[in-house]
Amino acid sequence: MDMRVTVAGIEFANPVIAASGTFAYGIEFEDIVSLDRIGGFVTKGISREPMAGNAAPRLIETSAGMINAIGLQNIGVEAFLRDKLPPLARYKCAVIVNVFGYQVEDYVAVIRKLNEAEGIAAYEINASCPNTKHGGMAFGADHGALAELVAHCRHYSRRPVIVKLSPNVTSIAAMARCAESSGADAISLVNTFVSLAIDVETRQPRIRNITGGLSGPAIKPIAVRMVWEAAQAVKIPVIGMGGIATAEDAVEFLLAGATAVQVGTASYADPRAIENISHSLAHWCARRHIARVSELTGAMELPTK
Ligand SMILES: Cc1cc2nc3c(=O)[nH]c(=O)nc-3n(C[C@H](O)[C@H](O)[C@H](O)COP(=O)(O)O)c2cc1C
Repeated sequence: MDMRVTVAGIEFANPVIAASGTFAYGIEFEDIVSLDRIGGFVTKGISREPMAGNAAPRLIETSAGMINAIGLQNIGVEAFLRDKLPPLARYKCAVIVNVFGYQVEDYVAVIRKLNEAEGIAAYEINASCPNTKHGGMAFGADHGALAELVAHCRHYSRRPVIVKLSPNVTSIAAMARCAESSGADAISLVNTFVSLAIDVETRQPRIRNITGGLSGPAIKPIAVRMVWEAAQAVKIPVIGMGGIATAEDAVEFLLAGATAVQVGTASYADPRAIENISHSLAHWCARRHIARVSELTGAMELPTK
């Protein structure tokens, strides 16, 4: 059973990767998850300077998913390189650093700093955060801004650049093509969907930021559709995510065209979700005599007329 997949030249031991914002800086999970057995993880979004994030409440549960407006709280690139990255060197899993900024120069500054360090497999450019007033979403929803951002990141990066796309757009295929033609080595999608939950007694928004990003099982069928559309639009690899909680969920994304998947919200319910899903995915393939998990990518069968 071959569970290896290759995305933008990076070989992952298996296609299940922990999603940004739900796995801290990775090292915090070393006593809970076997970091040698998971395919890899994506760090929390890292910015040039440390960021405090939004005021609470910033994470709530709804009947069908989670809404967050963390506001990209993080320790900043210097502290990440000093305190979090070095201890990760003893593990085999691929470390992908999620990069965030308000302006193109901020992204470039973070990338140039990260370029100086060893032990990073790739950068994931967050062009899709719905929870900050500038940047993030502004890049993900505008062709010109996305093209400029991706071209600059590609130019300054000495590593593969994965561009994380926003689902809050009219045509995901067009944004995927834009990322590809601007130099992305791979794309990942989806980030969270802009949403609003109101407390009917207080009549106030349940999230202090008013709106937040919806994640979890509620978004899965929309995410699978978007991955399918994006995968058909580009030749570069696609990493799919949105509501994955079981091996079968992961298989849906692979069939839709993803080469690898990420798991986010499920790690909140069970911090070992990544390991469990990758383990059950190997069993799922073995039971069906699927020799290589990569055979599943894009293997959805369309109904015949
Ligand atoms: C609490 C929380 C924080 C997140 N922070 C980030 C982040 O810093 N950067 C980013 O690109 N995505 C971030 N995301 C988005 C996730 O990586 C993922 O794209 C999204 O939650 C959909 O996957 P899921 O349904 O498996 O959670 C965050 C999601 C959650 C729930």
